[in-house]
Amino acid sequence: MEPRFWLQKWESGQTGFHQQAVNEALTTCWPAVEAPAGGTVLAPLCGKSLDMRWLAEQGHAIVGVELSPLACGAFFEAIDRRPRVSSAGSFRAWEAEHYRILQGDFLNATTADVGPVSAFYDRAALVAMPPDMQRGYVRRLLTLLPTGATGLVVCFEYPPESMHGPPFSVTEARLRELLGADGRLRRLSSTVIRTRGTALEGRGLETLTETTYRVQVAE
Ligand SMILES: C[S@@+](CC[C@H](N)C(=O)[O-])C[C@H]1O[C@@H](n2cnc3c(N)ncnc32)[C@H](O)[C@@H]1O
Repeated sequence: MEPRFWLQKWESGQTGFHQQAVNEALTTCWPAVEAPAGGTVLAPLCGKSLDMRWLAEQGHAIVGVELSPLACGAFFEAIDRRPRVSSAGSFRAWEAEHYRILQGDFLNATTADVGPVSAFYDRAALVAMPPDMQRGYVRRLLTLLPTGATGLVVCFEYPPESMHGPPFSVTEARLRELLGADGRLRRLSSTVIRTRGTALEGRGLETLTETTYRVQVAE
């Protein structure tokens, strides 16, 4: 997807991927990540997800990366904080308390932009990328993390012929292939989600499976 696609989604309010409540898989699976206490969590393609607030409540600092200024603004409004906004290399940094959201293209992010991080949280980020961009996304994510770092990847699976993404279907085999020897993978949970009443139902999908993996960057 080109940046324009997502910027227009935010401008037209088509943000059905946003969850009003904290993701259940995050709260149940995060302990398995064994993230270093007080360490910074990288949240690629973070949107305005309230999962970031939950992670901050667990004692983590957050560095999110998000294309849309509307998403960045909406996140800080939702948590009732007034962010400082400044230039940070090729990004705009939106910052308040434990949160730093880099507004710009994740695929251009460097370790200098993101700073030291010790864990990560990907919900609906890898699956937001079309198959031909997924390898680039995973490579970028791995370059921003130190060896041994752990995190969650929350994927969606459905018969690919039922719908054209996003979200794109990513199976365990595909995730393994994308990580190659550079990441270790463990499936933690799988939940079937009914799409009734959502935009996905209108696109021909009745159910999809949300699968959560623990991923560790190879030492
Ligand atoms: C499917 S949404 C998921 C958002 C969030 N993770 C959540 O769970 O609500 C994907 C988000 O990634 C953002 N995005 C897409 N491509 C991006 C890129 N290359 N760099 C940064 N953000 C991107 C979009 O604007 C959108 O907010």
